[in-house]
Amino acid sequence: METAVRIEGLTKIFFKNRFFKKAETRAVVNLNLEVNGGEVFGFLGPNGAGKSTTIKVLMRLLFPTAGRAWIFDVPIEESRARRRVGFLPENPYFYDYLTAEEFLFLNGRLFGMGGKELKERVAHLIEFVGLEEHRKTRLRKFSKGMLQRIGLAQALINDPDLVILDEPTSGLDPLGRKMVLDLIKKLKEQGKTVFFSTHILPDAEEVCDSIGIIINGELKRTGKLLDILGRTKGYQVEFEGVTDEKILKRIARIAKSEMEIRENVYAVEASDEELYNIVELIRIGGGRIIRIIPQKRTLEDVFIEEVSES
Ligand SMILES: Nc1ncnc2c1ncn2[C@@H]1O[C@H](COP(=O)(O)OP(=O)(O)OP(=O)(O)O)[C@@H](O)[C@H]1O
Ligand SMILES: [Mg+2]
Repeated sequence: METAVRIEGLTKIFFKNRFFKKAETRAVVNLNLEVNGGEVFGFLGPNGAGKSTTIKVLMRLLFPTAGRAWIFDVPIEESRARRRVGFLPENPYFYDYLTAEEFLFLNGRLFGMGGKELKERVAHLIEFVGLEEHRKTRLRKFSKGMLQRIGLAQALINDPDLVILDEPTSGLDPLGRKMVLDLIKKLKEQGKTVFFSTHILPDAEEVCDSIGIIINGELKRTGKLLDILGRTKGYQVEFEGVTDEKILKRIARIAKSEMEIRENVYAVEASDEELYNIVELIRIGGGRIIRIIPQKRTLEDVFIEEVSES
């Protein structure tokens, strides 16, 4: 499998003053990361964590203080490393006197495209991001969500194999967010690699194959989403028909939560370790298990764990 992005020992320090090097911001510290080709990678972290800085280094908008990076095995110092890359920056700047279509034509020409190929590409992308009715509208009149859409179309103009999106869903309404997530899924189906940053953890949980959590410039956790969320955090056990008070008390003692009763159905939370003991007690008490629901960790749980540890 091709490695889409490889980052080794990346450090970016912003010096407030060229001569007084102590006044500095360590935006990214010794970051190592690999993103496989064909994967959707979510780059997560609180405000100011270093996500955009890392992305800007990849796009050569910032020079690293230390470390190296490769895109499809081409060192980022070489401009051809970005030939197969599409990019949506955090705060894109738009020439707002251009229409949606003109804007895309301009971007295509910057990639050396033209003629029929570009015409077809622009028509396809306008449709892809749902802006058919606004192809002739000047960007000045676009809402934030519409600008985000045209920004995404722009990022795809060169039919890139790697799409880097810095907070593509920020500022979008639920429909706009869904559009972006569907688009990310479509890109993945086409075999593209998507590297995107976000604060919206359920979004990441929905589309990512793997994630990285960066806090204060340090990569705290990275891996496959399924591995990270895989572990359950206990079970909810629902049962009925246990009448023996002593047994109910024993169950209550080893349960993780207080026992709830609703219409003769008992519900308790069991830790991974105590699940079998609770089930056994229900059996001894002559009860019937109604259901056992694994309590899944969410990305939000993992994220909060990491942030509170830092
Ligand atoms: N050009 C700059 N000069 C000085 N400091 C900077 C510069 N750009 C970023 N920083 C600092 O680097 C740190 C990381 O910023 P960065 O924009 O990478 O964070 P982020 O993870 O993208 O945050 P957000 O989620 O808010 O977009 C912050 O402390 C920020 O203030
Ligand atoms: Mg940012």
